[in-house]
Amino acid sequence: MIYLNNSATTYPKPPEVINAISNAFLSYEGDSSRLFSGDSIDNDIISLARKKIANFFNIKKENNLIFTSGSTESLNLLIRGFEYQHRRIITTVTEHNSVLRPLYRVQKGSSIELSFIPCDGDGYIDFDVLSKEVSKPFDYFIINHASNVTGSIQNIEKIGEIVKHYNGFFIIDASQSAGAESIDIEKSNVDFIAFTGHKSLYGVSGIGGFYVSDELKKVLNPLKVGGTGVRSLEKTQPQELPFYYEAGTKNYMGILSLYHGVSFVEKTSIEAIKKHKNRMVQIAFNNLKNIKEINIVSPNVIQKGGSIFAFNVNNFTNEDIVYILKESFDIIVRSGYHCAPLMFDYIGYDKIFSRGTIRVTPSYFTTESEMESFCFAIKEIVGI
Ligand SMILES: Cc1ncc(COP(=O)(O)O)c(C=O)c1O
Repeated sequence: MIYLNNSATTYPKPPEVINAISNAFLSYEGDSSRLFSGDSIDNDIISLARKKIANFFNIKKENNLIFTSGSTESLNLLIRGFEYQHRRIITTVTEHNSVLRPLYRVQKGSSIELSFIPCDGDGYIDFDVLSKEVSKPFDYFIINHASNVTGSIQNIEKIGEIVKHYNGFFIIDASQSAGAESIDIEKSNVDFIAFTGHKSLYGVSGIGGFYVSDELKKVLNPLKVGGTGVRSLEKTQPQELPFYYEAGTKNYMGILSLYHGVSFVEKTSIEAIKKHKNRMVQIAFNNLKNIKEINIVSPNVIQKGGSIFAFNVNNFTNEDIVYILKESFDIIVRSGYHCAPLMFDYIGYDKIFSRGTIRVTPSYFTTESEMESFCFAIKEIVGI
């Protein structure tokens, strides 16, 4: 099987991740009920992971790094736990449904206004509109760092520089970028960053988290409360971080996988991973760009170092291509709108990219020969 759907979730995981989890399952350390039982080994692993990930994003206070089940949970807490003041949120058309649906939910039946910043045909947001939008009061400015549709990367340091002059919080959805692009909390003036573990941090699914600034924490309520292992005699959730947002038994295996996934990324280096993925994408681009039946999404982003090869094929539905690749060639890719519905109005959806796109996403473990097999399969399907 050739797996080319790494933007959804990375496969395979690095050997150190697999080994750590297998070993933990076989030993008493893998029993999550011991997590806060005073067993120093378990507690150490949680705090070591918190330290490592905080350091990875240049977060000075590691307790401001909170573990959740992933970006969706982090973003729900952000959007639904907030005490809105100005009742206005600025976001972009590149957002994932993990941002959009919680936003629509808080907007429903309330006076909250949503303002969307458009993007160009490659998925880069419009800075002129951004400058106008931030000049009116807002609570949140939420932006998807890396598009899971075109692969475009927004300049978060420049945006953070603009947003910090206004009285609103700067939020980043780093689901696609954590582990794939370097992120420096200090340099980007970020108040909240949502990340997921099962993509470019090479952990398992069901683990992720967020960073929250001290300022934002003052007006951001937890969505769930419960046991924390500390202050058991009190009726209310402990106010101090990370306990304020971390009620219930943690995903011990997930956190362990994240620790080793981040170690893998650090050891390999983000630059080397990025370079490899772009080299794989370039193989597809160079092989298929001159075939007249094939429409490639955002070639500019690919040329700039992007790690997504998205396309569709004249006279075929995207679903048919995905089905044939799977059934006849054992190649896994993904088709559709990739949970980012608004963006398709801006990248030419009405013209050639109807029914979304076919998305091909390699990882650090994808080989040249796998990419060549994919290109061969597409040429076969198209009849070349
Ligand atoms: C841009 C973006 N945001 C949010 C998510 C949701 O992440 P999670 O799987 O951790 O809930 C994804 C995952 O597909 C994503 O690509």
